Amino acid sequence: MTHSSTHRRRIVVLISGGGSNLQSFIDACADGSLNADIVAVISNKAGVKGLERAANVGIPNIILDHNSFESRGEFDQALGDVIESFSPDLIILAGFMRILTPHFVNRFLGQLMNIHPSLLPKYPGLHTHQRAIDAGDSEAGATVHFVTPELDGGPTIVQARVPVLKDDTAEILAGRILAFEHQIYPLAAEWFCQGLLELQDGDIIFDNQLLPAEGVSLEIRDKT
Ligand code: GRF
Repeated sequence: MTHSSTHRRRIVVLISGGGSNLQSFIDACADGSLNADIVAVISNKAGVKGLERAANVGIPNIILDHNSFESRGEFDQALGDVIESFSPDLIILAGFMRILTPHFVNRFLGQLMNIHPSLLPKYPGLHTHQRAIDAGDSEAGATVHFVTPELDGGPTIVQARVPVLKDDTAEILAGRILAFEHQIYPLAAEWFCQGLLELQDGDIIFDNQLLPAEGVSLEIRDKT
């Protein structure tokens, strides 16, 4: 898989909330560490901060309220059509709080990435930080993965690991992890944009090699 590195990739970002991960993509595109353009931001909720972040830098931002659709399938169809109208190379789920139908996932298979705030396969679903604390885990983290029809079950591209400290609340731990999310997610997108990363029959090929289940191993430091 070789892509010309001169062609800027097109990214659509899906959000439901604050959009701090979206901001990390906006910043990475601006500073050149991500060789891509965010061509649209789509939110299933009106009035969220992420929409403001997009508007601030002139990115087309669209609200597609799932409540105005009869079924999950109809929402996903409309969402897919809007996404497709922007001809993206990559679709980034950044705090997008909707379960996607297998039909939607298969429509964009290999182009859909998500970030999840746990060391998957541990703690798919919600309340990941509290669950890690309650379990007495010594470390927690975040996982960037390709999206497959199984919820939070797609193969891992890269993980960031952080310690769980004695007095951590879910909020404190979430903040510590989020700082790392903002580093690994644009980085994973850049690998994709460089043509280094491909989903093949449920496995990831990274730089022409089969990636192990734990993803790319990376030493990262907290920038905060
Ligand atoms: C992040 O913790 C991400 O891992 C999860 O939802 C949160 C989104 O935060 N999927 P933000 O909207 O990007 O600030």
